[in-house]
Amino acid sequence: MKNEKVLVVGGAGYIGSHMVKDLLDTGYDVITLDDLSAGHRELLSGGEFIEGGLGDTVLLDNLFSTHTISAVMHFAAFSLVGESVEKPLKYYRNNMAATAELLDSMIRHNVKRFIFSSTAAVYGEPVEIPITESHPCNPTNPYGASKIAVERMLKDCDSAYGFKYISLRYFNAAGADKSGKIGERHRNETHLIPLVLEVATDRRENIKIFGANYPTPDGTCIRDYIHVSDLTSAHLLALKSLLSGGDSAVYNLGNNRGYSVREVIELARKVTGKPIPAIEADKRPGDPAILIASSDQIKKTLGWKPEYEDLETIIKTAWKWHQKEASI
Ligand code: UFG
Repeated sequence: MKNEKVLVVGGAGYIGSHMVKDLLDTGYDVITLDDLSAGHRELLSGGEFIEGGLGDTVLLDNLFSTHTISAVMHFAAFSLVGESVEKPLKYYRNNMAATAELLDSMIRHNVKRFIFSSTAAVYGEPVEIPITESHPCNPTNPYGASKIAVERMLKDCDSAYGFKYISLRYFNAAGADKSGKIGERHRNETHLIPLVLEVATDRRENIKIFGANYPTPDGTCIRDYIHVSDLTSAHLLALKSLLSGGDSAVYNLGNNRGYSVREVIELARKVTGKPIPAIEADKRPGDPAILIASSDQIKKTLGWKPEYEDLETIIKTAWKWHQKEASI
């Protein structure tokens, strides 16, 4: 039997590269489209690679004319909240306008199954915790706004063209593939866990705690960390659902459990055995105090079962990767 072919846009990035590996391991054929602005070709585990952007309609039309694509997964977004506030048009242009070009090309070529990497940032400041999918969406930054705009586009494309999609709203992605061969590599790292591990490998002097007087038990922000391989397993279930005629849907992906910044640092000290000096610093603008997901919906509907719910285990997988990165 011929394998289904999946186009992974942004497949050379952190989450995309884990997705490519898991799709290949599950037996799908994979084409990665990535402009390498944030991705790394060496993180690709196989499949075909095309260098290019998701807004390049000539390239997309050619790609969809020459390959039979069963579904598209889209990881090629800019995702830094702070940067999106400073450079909103960069976010609207890439995350929204270029995605519209991708969807348009898909529809022209009758490719109508799409899995979208959305974000907890679509909710804005939470009015209740844990956050369910029916929580109001009032994003507080252009990043979240660009993602909710795409979700709206997807809904409208479903109504107009019978386009089927699953939008996955990630909370805080972390960790690395258990093989230790791929992991999180950002040119300009801003995320807590990789930064903490860079301190543990002496690539940084200390970790700054952004805000120590939030209304939380230890005064630091609480986030819901989810292992990257649990994100990809959710994508595989979403893909299976769409390929078997399932309907469009939106799901949260988190672990229903929050950890404060201080707890993250403490667990990293335990895992690495390193002192990891931490200093209190100013709040980072736009950070909500607490973000915790309810992921009951995807568990109930698609049978998703996270494998790495415990943050210590998540940090252990990241540590394996970061030690390798530090030795390069
Ligand atoms: N933090 C620090 N020091 C640092 C870096 C981060 O204290 O050096 C804190 C942040 O203030 C925040 C927490 O650690 O409270 C987590 O910060 P990250 O930057 O790791 O992650 P965010 O919660 O800001 O953002 C992530 C994704 C976004 C997504 C968001 C949704 O990067 O794309 O989760 O929850 F929108």
